[in-house]
Amino acid sequence: MKERVRLGVNIDHVATIRNARGGVHPDPVRAAKLAAKAGADGITAHLREDRRHISDADIERLSDEIDLPLNLEMAATVEMLQIALRHRPHAACVVPEKRQELTTEGGLDVVAERAKLIPLVAELSGAGIRVALFIDPEARQIEAARAVGAPVVELHTGSYCEASAAARARELARLRRAAALTRTLGLECHAGHGLSFETAGPVAALPEVVELNIGHFLVGEAIFGGLESAIRRMRAVIDEARADSRGERPA
Ligand code: PXP
Repeated sequence: MKERVRLGVNIDHVATIRNARGGVHPDPVRAAKLAAKAGADGITAHLREDRRHISDADIERLSDEIDLPLNLEMAATVEMLQIALRHRPHAACVVPEKRQELTTEGGLDVVAERAKLIPLVAELSGAGIRVALFIDPEARQIEAARAVGAPVVELHTGSYCEASAAARARELARLRRAAALTRTLGLECHAGHGLSFETAGPVAALPEVVELNIGHFLVGEAIFGGLESAIRRMRAVIDEARADSRGERPA
């Protein structure tokens, strides 16, 4: 099989469970090490402004203790920029953040936030951090991402994953068009949010997609069959979908 789609495992919700009791168990760093063993290509963690799951100490330990590339999800704030510059993760994915939301509900409005994003992207890139902007699969947002200097976009797959069976094909078509545009504009294309064993395959089959970031579903599945097994199965779903789309057998 040619280049496989990279799987970034988001460990935020291991920290959510830990924080429910305020102790140290379950440890997101242990989950990250297990993810590496199970076939993850990277670890993703979102340090939210309200620290509701991942903590500053988790980012410190992830930076020190894991061998896989770390993808720090962050809001476009001065505080997060300083933290990113201090830790210098492999990548930073800039996401919109609202205090009251349960999760990252929509993509960044790069068109409206252009003036704020240009210096942020420049500072992160200048520090050697690969910057992605998390956006809805819309042409104007992709064009704006390129205009502010981001080398990568992560397409928000939430609408596709939450769509009814009838609407899902339409949402996948939006993702397909958006992914194709990223290639035309010379951007690297990632995707994530809400992906499951059922929904990850069709996104992995889009030829421009090089990385998927998946968290909540994997941590949920871990309750029933263990984290390692959930990640291994996701790895297989992704590899099979990509190989099928190319008429190959998975490696
Ligand atoms: N990508 C981004 C940018 C996200 O903000 C999130 C959620 O933190 C994910 C991927 C993973 O989403 P989920 O936990 O629904 O798999």
